[in-house]
Amino acid sequence: MLDHLGDFKRDYFCGELTENNIGDEVRLLGWADSVRDHGGVIFINLRDREGIVQVVVDPSKSPEEAYEKAKKVRTEYVIGVQGRVQRRPAGTENPKLPTGTIEVIADKLLILNTCDVLPFQIEDNINVSEEVRLKYRYLDIRRKPMFNNLLIRHEVYQATREYLAGHGFLEVETPMLTKSTPEGARDFLVPSRLEKGKFYALPQSPQLFKQILMVGGIERYFQIVKCFRDEDLRADRQPEFTQIDFEMSFVNEEDVIAISEGLVHYIFKKVLGIDLKLPFRRMTYKEAIERYGTDKPDIRYGMELIDVSEIAKNVEFKVFKDAVEKGGVVKGLTIKEGAKFSRKEIDDLTEYAKKFGAKGMAWIKLSEGKMSSPIVKFFTQEQQQQLKEKMKGEEGDLLVFIADTYETTHKVLGFLRKHIADKLNIIPQGKWDFLWIVDFPLVEWDDEEGRFVALHHPFTSPKEEDIPKLDEAITNPQVASSLKSRAYDLVLNGEEIGGGSIRIHTPFVQEKVFKLLGISDEEAKEKFGFLIDALKFGAPPHGGLAFGLDRLIALMVGADSIREVIAFPKTQKGNCPLSGAPDFVTKEQLEELGISVEIEEEKLS
Ligand code: AMO
Ligand code: AMP
Repeated sequence: MLDHLGDFKRDYFCGELTENNIGDEVRLLGWADSVRDHGGVIFINLRDREGIVQVVVDPSKSPEEAYEKAKKVRTEYVIGVQGRVQRRPAGTENPKLPTGTIEVIADKLLILNTCDVLPFQIEDNINVSEEVRLKYRYLDIRRKPMFNNLLIRHEVYQATREYLAGHGFLEVETPMLTKSTPEGARDFLVPSRLEKGKFYALPQSPQLFKQILMVGGIERYFQIVKCFRDEDLRADRQPEFTQIDFEMSFVNEEDVIAISEGLVHYIFKKVLGIDLKLPFRRMTYKEAIERYGTDKPDIRYGMELIDVSEIAKNVEFKVFKDAVEKGGVVKGLTIKEGAKFSRKEIDDLTEYAKKFGAKGMAWIKLSEGKMSSPIVKFFTQEQQQQLKEKMKGEEGDLLVFIADTYETTHKVLGFLRKHIADKLNIIPQGKWDFLWIVDFPLVEWDDEEGRFVALHHPFTSPKEEDIPKLDEAITNPQVASSLKSRAYDLVLNGEEIGGGSIRIHTPFVQEKVFKLLGISDEEAKEKFGFLIDALKFGAPPHGGLAFGLDRLIALMVGADSIREVIAFPKTQKGNCPLSGAPDFVTKEQLEELGISVEIEEEKLS
């Protein structure tokens, strides 16, 4: 028989008890973390959110009733304990527990609930699949590391609200059932029952609404908001994720960057006690691509890309020479002490490079005082020396090279650099390398779509000096590629944790940019007509940014995946093992929505 809670109330959390409580009669509630029977004396480690304390049920000191109950307690039973705090006898202290010098001698015990056989133990380090952890997420969350992650997340929410509200930002909610927004991913759709055949889209971000709030004169808006994007999932991507989203009127880039830095500084100070140095470094998009092969460089370590095109264009090796002649580049990485890589390891690197579009990967080992490689025969002695000097190669290093178009070479080397740094474990830990990426191109060519696409989103303003070039850009791809935008991204340790821009606030510039993006008047009107209309009614100049909250917190707590900092995340396949979503629905539900689905009948209950 279970006991009723009745009016039994806790006086303290287990983890709150200290030696100052010695002699106090206290009531505690929680879970039996472990139960040990030592020759008649029963020890229960009682755990709640704030920690663990040892409860002792000693037949010579505790009432018979409490002792009889204690004999029934098993791991993860929910119990209440009333008892006296005492100092542990000398020699029985547990230095691993913050409450390890005290214990509670039980006078009364309540068994409030039992617990089935556990699929895994409630311990800090467990060795079970993530699928199982997610299915039993309630047990997983009882584990301290998970609880801590959620606690930090909570503290980040609070710090965010304090900082932004303190700087005049109003928290405004925007709709979840809305029209498609243009962050470039696939939409999640929700069918309308009242207007059959029509769908709401879940927002990929509140982008359009926050701009409209600026037209509405809100001046400063923020929201901690769910965003939905149906894209391939990775460690740092979830189909629903959270942004700290904000927007400001009458501002330029510097104002938005200053608020963003202020917010991050406040969060780190308040939540982690870390005093970040402001301002954060800045780098142009071009420099990031050319030095690191990515627009989100991890600057915690070197191994930068080195351009050897000048040497490569004169060598006999056709792959190199041709690449440069065709307008491409040859660039390389110097891998310190990489000469020790086996042939197999080098082949693996080549295969890795090919995944990102490389046609091959040339390499040179600097070992035993010479250069060894299948390609050195194509280089004169002098060229070999030039190459070694340019690459700052030393005895024991491995040089790898990619010869391709500007885009492919940088992209491949960007991925290779990170892959090799991970493999060699050379990334310094405990560093917070924030970096702003600025001066993004406005648009980039998309081969698949056969048109220019916005690097950020179509509402990002071109640089003021580039606005007069928009007309020409519509017909001249070279001009289009040269346009710069007023966008900025914030990168932390090689991960993009936020991005934003100064927006277009006049309908005529917006229409030109749509034209440049190959979005027809009808399409623009149909998709974003409400924003273009709003811009016609006195839209103030405005701009903003959105942080990826899950990514920021994952970095703060040192988690490998954002799933570790989300209470109920989806798996890589987009499933929720706990609830079983997504799932089939009944025929009736579909009929009501006017939807028929092409699957076997029996799956619909
Ligand atoms: P953007 O698309 O760059 O900008 O998103 C902002 C930040 O959100 C995070 N993020 C994600 N996190 C987890 N899972 C995902 N699938 C995911 N996608 C993005 C990233 C990213 O930097 N409306 C604009 C912001 C603006 O212009 O103000 C926007 O959504 O950390
Ligand atoms: P091949 O002449 O194709 O046998 O290539 C000789 C070496 O050059 C091999 O190590 C290839 O991996 C490498 N290689 C081929 N294409 C490229 C390229 N585009 N960039 C760099 N190295 C390449």
